Amino acid sequence: MPIPAPNLYPSFNVVRLSHVELVVTDLARSRAFYADTLGLQITHADEDTIHLRAMEERGHHCLVLRKGTEAKVEVLSMKVYSEEDLDKAKDWFEAKGLAARWVERPFQGRTLRTQDIFGTPLEFYFKMDRLAPIHQKYALYHGVKPLRIDHFNCFTKDVDASVAFYNEMGFRVTEYTEDEESKRLWAAWMHRKGGVHDIAFTNGRGPRLHHTAFWVPTPLNIIDLLDLMSTTGYLANIERGPGRHGISNAFFLYVLDPDGHRIEIYCSDYQTVDPDLEPIKWDLKDPQRQTLWGAPAPRSWFEHGSLFNGAEVCEPILKAQPIIAP
Ligand SMILES: [Fe+2]
Repeated sequence: MPIPAPNLYPSFNVVRLSHVELVVTDLARSRAFYADTLGLQITHADEDTIHLRAMEERGHHCLVLRKGTEAKVEVLSMKVYSEEDLDKAKDWFEAKGLAARWVERPFQGRTLRTQDIFGTPLEFYFKMDRLAPIHQKYALYHGVKPLRIDHFNCFTKDVDASVAFYNEMGFRVTEYTEDEESKRLWAAWMHRKGGVHDIAFTNGRGPRLHHTAFWVPTPLNIIDLLDLMSTTGYLANIERGPGRHGISNAFFLYVLDPDGHRIEIYCSDYQTVDPDLEPIKWDLKDPQRQTLWGAPAPRSWFEHGSLFNGAEVCEPILKAQPIIAP
């Protein structure tokens, strides 16, 4: 199916992705991974939750870790432009027959809880507690020196349908992968904030979260993280990379947290703010699509993902296979 024309005047305005809440089974183990190893800064911690932010972020959190018995994803959260946009968002979701309700979230103002067409739990808010800047507190930098959350990537059973839904919400396609045989989308990258993506969709059993990505200053930070992880007991947590993506042109590394939630370390994609930006098309069988240097991703990368709380997982409609490492 063709890429839909961008909706430049959506019913409500999303600024950007904001944060993810992950349910983890051992809070101390997750703290060692996200704070001590990756270098995210803890902004609040109690018996059941840890809130973290990255170095450039003024908002209170980009990641919430919540203790639970089963690893899963509680919610993906987005920031909107104003309180009025929240009311408009509630109307928009309800008009589509998707339940939307107000919920209380610490360190945030009014928060709207809803879901997309396949049951992916979503929250929208305008106001979050603002913290003092720390981007020039260089004594605090460690690990991979994460600067900000960059994007989510989700498995979906129907990429065309997910793209149509988020396109109506104002997300714009920057790059996409088409299956040449069926002409269906196999993957798509969509943005609000002017980078390659705030959210991407990958064909597969869904809905599930494929990964959450954090932006770092340079590829050298990724090399430093590999040296650190490989000598501090995290060797088995390194899944794919380092490398340069064909799609997005970003430098990348994929690692798994102690519960198997996938995290991408990501830097240097490109600006996409022009409203008439032409999306870049890739063929599913192009060996430079996944990695510019040609190395294919391992099978786990196409099969492993995190379950969303309360969402029923379905097999993908499209059966086309990408190139998988032997
Ligand atoms: Fe990614």
